[in-house]
Amino acid sequence: MLSASSLAEIDRERLKYPPEQARSVLLAALRIAQEEHGYLSNELIEFVASYLGVPSIQAFEVATFYTMYDLAPVGKYQFCVCGSISCFLNGSDEILAHLQDRLGIGIGETTADGLFTLKEVECLGACKDAPMMQLGDRYLENLTPERIDALIEQLRKEAQR
Ligand code: FES
Repeated sequence: MLSASSLAEIDRERLKYPPEQARSVLLAALRIAQEEHGYLSNELIEFVASYLGVPSIQAFEVATFYTMYDLAPVGKYQFCVCGSISCFLNGSDEILAHLQDRLGIGIGETTADGLFTLKEVECLGACKDAPMMQLGDRYLENLTPERIDALIEQLRKEAQR
């Protein structure tokens, strides 16, 4: 269910912890599994648990607790808008409303063309530049509706190339 390279990466993570604490490898192992498959299906979560030798309920607890894990297919671009206190006080609700309006989807949904998914997440540690969101491995800060519009346009063009 996972490639040899993903399994090798999980094995390297496993070396960081005592053998009896395989549960501690779950965070990394689920991330690696998600990177390969795009999201974590129930079967994939069970596979990861079995590979690490931990009860599958523990893997489901981790996978369903953290917003960085996707339990269903997501769009090519995933807007993870922080809705915690600093971002909220600086207009994250306006950013979320604008994104929903522009994309025609609600929070937790993906556009019909499979390009965009919108998520609301907890504090991402960039509070001084609120409101902000994560897009892939990038942080986009000091968001405004105008910046959002330019970004969506840029990503649509990028996807056509
Ligand atoms: S409150 Fe949004 S990054 Fe911390």
